[in-house]
Amino acid sequence: MVIAIDGPGGVGKSTVARRVAFSRGLEYLDTGATYRAAALAAVRAEVDLDDSSAVVSAVAAATIEYRRGITLLDGEDVSTEIRTPQATAASSAVAAIAEVREIVVAMQRAWVDARDGKAVVEGRDIGTVVFPEADLKIFLTARPEVRAARRAGDPEADGAAVTEIHAALEQRDHADSTREVSPLRPAPDAYVIDTSDMPLDAVIGEVLGQADRVSGRPRLL
Ligand code: DC
Repeated sequence: MVIAIDGPGGVGKSTVARRVAFSRGLEYLDTGATYRAAALAAVRAEVDLDDSSAVVSAVAAATIEYRRGITLLDGEDVSTEIRTPQATAASSAVAAIAEVREIVVAMQRAWVDARDGKAVVEGRDIGTVVFPEADLKIFLTARPEVRAARRAGDPEADGAAVTEIHAALEQRDHADSTREVSPLRPAPDAYVIDTSDMPLDAVIGEVLGQADRVSGRPRLL
């Protein structure tokens, strides 16, 4: 069973996806990490991020792997480095390049195939583009100020002020939602959950309920 979980930054996708995967014995793929690793490949190759063909060459030459929550670039664990503000900003720019997305999406599909399609896949375009046939599509939303406050609690925020995080999130959301290729938007058949006023456990419970519904698993009410 493939469960697609999409939504903007800071909405809690990773936590929800990880917990749902754990609870149902599925593997978890953070596709944002694969774009971040692609961006780091371009940064390390010292190419101009506005030069799409140079970025594409750098990404095509890189080996990106994702194993048990660890991201590897050319065999090196870059799980921490891909979370720096520089890598975060670069990832949004690199993810807007159509040929980069083709390469990275092919990796994501191969990763899920290698696991017999038993995965929770989290990102921006999973339900719309990467796995339009997913068994379940979830789209998480939350008001921007709520997402900024949640991000401020992440270790990667590194003590940055909520207002600063808010501004950076809005900028990235705008770029991710208005880009030409695979913009962030819910699939028509996605189950949309506004998590603004929900505790995490309630969100996870709702996603698990939906997963049980599509898999025909009986629920104890
Ligand atoms: O989820 P994240 O913040 O780690 O994602 C990093 C960047 O990658 C973000 O700017 C959006 C982009 N991304 C994307 O375009 N498509 C995905 N499926 C996942 C992430």
